[in-house]
Amino acid sequence: MVRRALLGIIWMIYCVCTSFQQETSFVFNGFDQGDHRIHLQGSARILPKKDVLQLTNATTTQMGRAFFEQPIDFKPSEPVSFSTHFVCALVHVAEAGGHGMAFFVSHSTDFKGAQPTRYFGLFNPNGSASTRVLAVELDITKTIDVLDINDNHVGVDVNSPKSMVSASASYFSVKEGRKIDMKLLSGDPIQVWVDYEGTTLNVSLAPLGDQKPSRPLLSSTSINLSEIVQGRRIFVGFSGSTGSSVVNQYVLGWSFSKSMASLQKIDISKLPKVPHPSNKNKYKSLMYDVLLGLLALFVLGILVGAYMYRRNLYAEVREEWENVYGPLRYSYKSLYKATKGFSRNEFLGRGGFGEVYKGTLPRSIELREVAVKKVAHDGEQGMKQFVAEIVCMKSLKHRSLVPLLGYCRRKHELLLVSEYMPNGSLDGYLFNHDKPTLPWWRRFAILKDIALALSYLHTEADQVVIHRDIKASNVLLDAEFNGRLGDFGMSRLYERGADPTTTAAVGTVGYMAPEITTFGPSTGTDVYAFGVFLLEVTCGRRPVEPGLPAAKRFLIKWVCECWRGPSLLDAIDPRLTDFSSGEVERVLKVGLLCANLVPDARPSMEQVVQYLNGNLALPEFWPDSPGIGALTPTAFSQLPSLSLSSSSANNSMFITHSILDGSGR
Ligand SMILES: *[C@@H]1O[C@H](CO)[C@@H](O)[C@H](O)[C@H]1NC(C)=O
Ligand SMILES: *[C@@H]1O[C@H](CO)[C@@H](O)[C@H](O)[C@H]1NC(C)=O
Ligand SMILES: *[C@@H]1O[C@H](CO)[C@@H](O)[C@H](O)[C@H]1NC(C)=O
Ligand SMILES: *[C@@H]1O[C@H](CO)[C@@H](O)[C@H](O)[C@H]1NC(C)=O
Repeated sequence: MVRRALLGIIWMIYCVCTSFQQETSFVFNGFDQGDHRIHLQGSARILPKKDVLQLTNATTTQMGRAFFEQPIDFKPSEPVSFSTHFVCALVHVAEAGGHGMAFFVSHSTDFKGAQPTRYFGLFNPNGSASTRVLAVELDITKTIDVLDINDNHVGVDVNSPKSMVSASASYFSVKEGRKIDMKLLSGDPIQVWVDYEGTTLNVSLAPLGDQKPSRPLLSSTSINLSEIVQGRRIFVGFSGSTGSSVVNQYVLGWSFSKSMASLQKIDISKLPKVPHPSNKNKYKSLMYDVLLGLLALFVLGILVGAYMYRRNLYAEVREEWENVYGPLRYSYKSLYKATKGFSRNEFLGRGGFGEVYKGTLPRSIELREVAVKKVAHDGEQGMKQFVAEIVCMKSLKHRSLVPLLGYCRRKHELLLVSEYMPNGSLDGYLFNHDKPTLPWWRRFAILKDIALALSYLHTEADQVVIHRDIKASNVLLDAEFNGRLGDFGMSRLYERGADPTTTAAVGTVGYMAPEITTFGPSTGTDVYAFGVFLLEVTCGRRPVEPGLPAAKRFLIKWVCECWRGPSLLDAIDPRLTDFSSGEVERVLKVGLLCANLVPDARPSMEQVVQYLNGNLALPEFWPDSPGIGALTPTAFSQLPSLSLSSSSANNSMFITHSILDGSGR
């Protein structure tokens, strides 16, 4: 029993020993990441999925070693010899080459003091044999201090990067019967055979698919391996290093044996492909580049679009001559923002020639509420003069004028900025029955305000200013319901001595003095319009109401009829209850006096102010006095020569023979 047990144990030990011995011959057709037989040091790794052993990653000054985990032991009876065959590849990373790689046989796995770059991660600069190692280098750099022959050679190194023997990379082709040069750094797989027996070490190269050449590339006959490694135990593996430039060093397959006879064949068909990160990456990076480029273009497009949109949104027209008016100029952007992009919520109404929006200018400009009027215009012609006039108007200062603050010009658009009048325009209170009507005392005060404003324009301003468009819708009410004359967009400067006939007829039908179409606007035509305005405010109706019977249709005529008839007071706005009949009569009579058909018979605005204040007695006149209550029989017959448009805001008609396009000049 004891003998059988002993025999069993001996047999088991034998089995274990032989199994160890069998491991001295191995083959790798590609490398498996989980295979623990390969020991990795430094930057060496087995690429997942690719099954390739990579010695250094593509970073500078790296060392990577991979060796068979178990040492190869030689029994005293055995000769120290080996035979190996491996397939490797050196692949470009960048244009510049790097350092190559080496197959090594070493005394131990401890490579303390080994250096990268030309030392292959095996040797150290002192040349001293800190590690006892034999290496077969595939060198792609010509390093002068280690006496390299060129930058594409194979060498046999013993304890030093200085090769004992070396030869330019080439192989003897059996097929062609001649030596063929090889490029180590081609990226193509290279087969390498290293055979050692006795004191002879042979090294052969061949491209993948070729047979082992019949003649070795290198043969060194004075190598005593057991002397080099100082013993009968060796470690075998591969080492690679990088310096300032890098290459990818790959091992695809490896077969090793103690003797040439027992060397197993590498199955070429099972070998992994050489990873070509450069090529793949080139393609990939090209794809990335293209995608990135497209993305960048897209983003750029959006940005440019947004910029153009903004630029277009805020585009202005600004000319040299306007520099003088710098302080008056508002940027379109600030007006756009002030009116919340000309939002409908800020819409105040439609006045002569344009829409009016409420705006709030930011503190940085001047914190205040403004009214912004957008006036459409076509030509640039006459713009200079127009802007000059606006600037002059800025100098007009009267408490009953709506102050004009400035302007802005865009293509086809002019923006006029004036002070915001919180209570809107007077016509709203006269004709809009939703709003509370204004009592007589307030109406009378407003009439006097406007009379003062007009008198100021006609006499006290530096130049005579003709408003040209006096009517209830152009009278605005401030917070205290004071009347303020507005809409200077319509008014024009009347320069003394200028030929009045050259100026275009502008105004509102019903308020236009009959001579305006022949002689053009004058202070007299303003007085006429003011007269109609007096009647309008007192009677609470528009100067012309086409819907009414002929007798009542024209306000001036009808007021005269009332005067002739039972009482002048019959003409008064029926909504007025509490009024002084003396004041009302006076206002109506001043209205008729102003609206006299004969220009010379009209009073001046200064006189009108005095009449209204009761400081001056009215002249004696009757409904049948010349020119009183007379309508303008020519007004409509002459109109077709001018373009007409009806305003949506009220029933009166605007003659949009624009002063802005200057065609009437
Ligand atoms: C390369 O290997 C070195 C050493 O193992 C490591 O420190 C480094 O992070 C690696 N670089 C890359 C890019 O993988
Ligand atoms: C080179 O040798 C010197 C002394 O001989 C030693 O101090 C130094 O550490 C060695 N260098 C390396 C890299 O081994
Ligand atoms: C080395 O090559 C020479 C010349 O071809 C040959 O005679 C010798 O047997 C080879 N030795 C080994 C170990 O392969
Ligand atoms: C090799 O070296 C060892 C130890 O120095 C020695 O015993 C052996 O004889 C040498 N072999 C040859 C072939 O010279």
